[in-house]
Amino acid sequence: MERYHLTRSFNSEGYDLSIAEVSAHEPGLIPVLVELDLLSYAEPTFSRYTIGGMMRFGRIFVIRADELVIGACHTYRSFDDPDEVVVFNMALRPGWRGHGLGTRLLRGVLERLAAHGVKRVSLAVATNNHRAIAVYRSKFGFADVARLPNEFNNTQEYLLMRLDLGEWASRKP
Ligand SMILES: CC(C)(COP(=O)(O)OP(=O)(O)OC[C@H]1O[C@@H](n2cnc3c(N)ncnc32)[C@H](O)[C@@H]1OP(=O)(O)O)[C@@H](O)C(=O)NCCC(=O)NCCS
Repeated sequence: MERYHLTRSFNSEGYDLSIAEVSAHEPGLIPVLVELDLLSYAEPTFSRYTIGGMMRFGRIFVIRADELVIGACHTYRSFDDPDEVVVFNMALRPGWRGHGLGTRLLRGVLERLAAHGVKRVSLAVATNNHRAIAVYRSKFGFADVARLPNEFNNTQEYLLMRLDLGEWASRKP
């Protein structure tokens, strides 16, 4: 396992980074993921019930630094196209953002989804979320599919993006 240094000067010990697919139901993770959600958004995305449902019937991936869960990615299969998986949500704990860890988490997620035979990944991202869009577009090649003016019945416009996993795998170094 690779030793990761958030800042070399302040943390000479570094962290063991790991990305895990939560394939068994782990109720103890629910409050951790609810808190991560509350730290990440002005309005809660999840409750204990939606996380519990996502854990059992969708697929959650977590990134840990040593034992601490520092981020998560929540996915489910598309009903209209079972070859497609939706990244419904991805977030890191605030202090861990902007260090390349979201990119690492998503890479780990896409590799595991590809190993499950998933062909495409789609997501909706707020058009003003420039950092997330930069990750999806520049790091992985997610393509813009459509603008969603009223996706969540708020005043925020969203962008529907999609990635062909086979094409992504063929581009990987
Ligand atoms: C979105 C999120 C998961 C990304 O993870 P992260 O670890 O912060 O992102 P990374 O450090 O891997 O990559 C960010 C990239 O965006 C770039 N970036 C940052 N701010 C940017 C901006 N305003 N405009 C364009 N690019 C920007 C960075 O330069 C970096 O690219 P680089 O490595 O080439 O310099 C994380 O920031 C997060 O949890 N945000 C809050 C929750 C959220 O918005 N989730 C997405 C919901 S769809």
